[in-house]
Amino acid sequence: MSAPDPHHPPDHLETLAIHAGQAPDPATGAVMTPIYQTSTYVQQGVGRHLGYDYARTGNPTRTALESCLAALEAAEHGLAFASGMAAIDTLLKLLDPGDHVLAGNDVYGGTFRLFDKQYRKYGIDFSFVEMTDLAAVQAALRPNTRWLWLETPTNPRLKVADVRALARAAHAHHPAVRVVVDNTFATPYLQQPLTLGGDVVVHSTTKYLGGHSDVVGGAVLTNDGPLYERLKFLQNAAGAIPGPMDCFLVLRGLKTLAVRMDRHAENALAVAQFLSDHPQVGEVIYPGLDSHPQYAVARRQMRSGGGMISFYLNGGAAHDLVTRTRLFALAESLGGVESLIEVPAAMTHGSTQGSPLEVDAGLIRISVGLEHKDDLIADLAQALRQI
Ligand SMILES: Cc1ncc(COP(=O)(O)O)c(C=O)c1O
Repeated sequence: MSAPDPHHPPDHLETLAIHAGQAPDPATGAVMTPIYQTSTYVQQGVGRHLGYDYARTGNPTRTALESCLAALEAAEHGLAFASGMAAIDTLLKLLDPGDHVLAGNDVYGGTFRLFDKQYRKYGIDFSFVEMTDLAAVQAALRPNTRWLWLETPTNPRLKVADVRALARAAHAHHPAVRVVVDNTFATPYLQQPLTLGGDVVVHSTTKYLGGHSDVVGGAVLTNDGPLYERLKFLQNAAGAIPGPMDCFLVLRGLKTLAVRMDRHAENALAVAQFLSDHPQVGEVIYPGLDSHPQYAVARRQMRSGGGMISFYLNGGAAHDLVTRTRLFALAESLGGVESLIEVPAAMTHGSTQGSPLEVDAGLIRISVGLEHKDDLIADLAQALRQI
C-alpha cells in the first residue's frame, strides 16, 4: 500500500476518512497511525529538529487527525482540541470587548453557558435569533456583529438552518462577518458547511466523528489562513490539546464514519416513523420526515436526516419514559454506536433554564444507535406501554 498520489488526491469522503493524513509510518511501515505518546522530541542542534519540538505545540498523531478532519470538511486547515467546548472556547478567545455574536436560539447548553456565564463578562455581546427565519437574522445583524453562530440541525430541537442563504446574508451585511457552523449533529458526511459558504466549522468529535463513546475531543476547520494562524497560536498558547491516544481513537472512528452515518439514518428514520404513528406520542422532530418544518432545506443541504430524533409525549411524563427503556441508555451525549435517551431540559440543557433558549421540560431527545432497528422500536414500544 502506498500513500495516495498528492497530485490526484481522492475526493470521496469514504476514501479520505481512511487515508487523508494517514500514510503508512515511514519508520516501520505500520499501516495504522502510531500513537506518539511523547511530551518532547530530541533536537539535532538548538532549534534544529524534525518538525516537532514540544507536544503541546505539535504531535504527529494529532497532525494526522487534523489533516484528516480538514480533508473531510473540505478545509485547508484543521486544529484538534481536548473537547468540543475547548474548541469553542479557543474560537471565542479571538473576539474583543464590544464585539457581537449573533447566535441561533437553539444551541447546545454548554455553548450557551460559555457564552452567557463567561464571555459576556469580558464585554462580548451575545444575542439569539431564529436561524430558520432569514429576515429575522438580517434584522438582528448589527454593525459590530463579528460572528453568526449556528448549529444545524440544532441541539436539541433539530431545527435546520439554510447555511447557504445565511452565509450570503451575513457576508452581504459585512464581508468581515464570519459564519461559524457547529457541524456536530450532521458530520461532514451529511453536509460540508464550508462548501455552502460557511467560514468556520466546529465539532465535538466526542460524538459521531469518534463514534464509539470512548473519547472526548473537538476540532475547528477553516479555509481562512489568518484566522487559522491565530487559532494555532492560541492552541499552543492556551494548550487545550487532545492527547495522542484520544487523537488515535477519533482517527479510528473516522474510518467508518460513512457506513455508520448511513445506518444511523436508516435506523432513525424507522424509529421516527414508528414514533409518529404512536398514539401516545405527540410531535416528532426528525429532519428526514416530511413533517419536519425545514424538510425541504434538509433535503437540499443534507445527505440524510441523521441519527438524532426529538419528540414529545401526549400522555405520560418524559421522566417516566426515559427510565423504562432497556436498550436506549439514559445518558447525556450522542453519536455513539449505542442508543441513548435523555431529557434535555433537565440534563444537557439545564443551563438554558430561565433564558430565551429554555427547553420545554417535556422534550425527549434520542440518539439512535446501530442496534437492529426492530429491537430499538420494540424497546420504545415496551417503554411506552409502561407509562
Ligand atoms: C452541538 C454540540 N456542540 C458542542 C458540544 C460540546 O462538545 P464536548 O462535550 O466534546 O465538549 C456538544 C456536546 O454535547 C454538542 O452537542
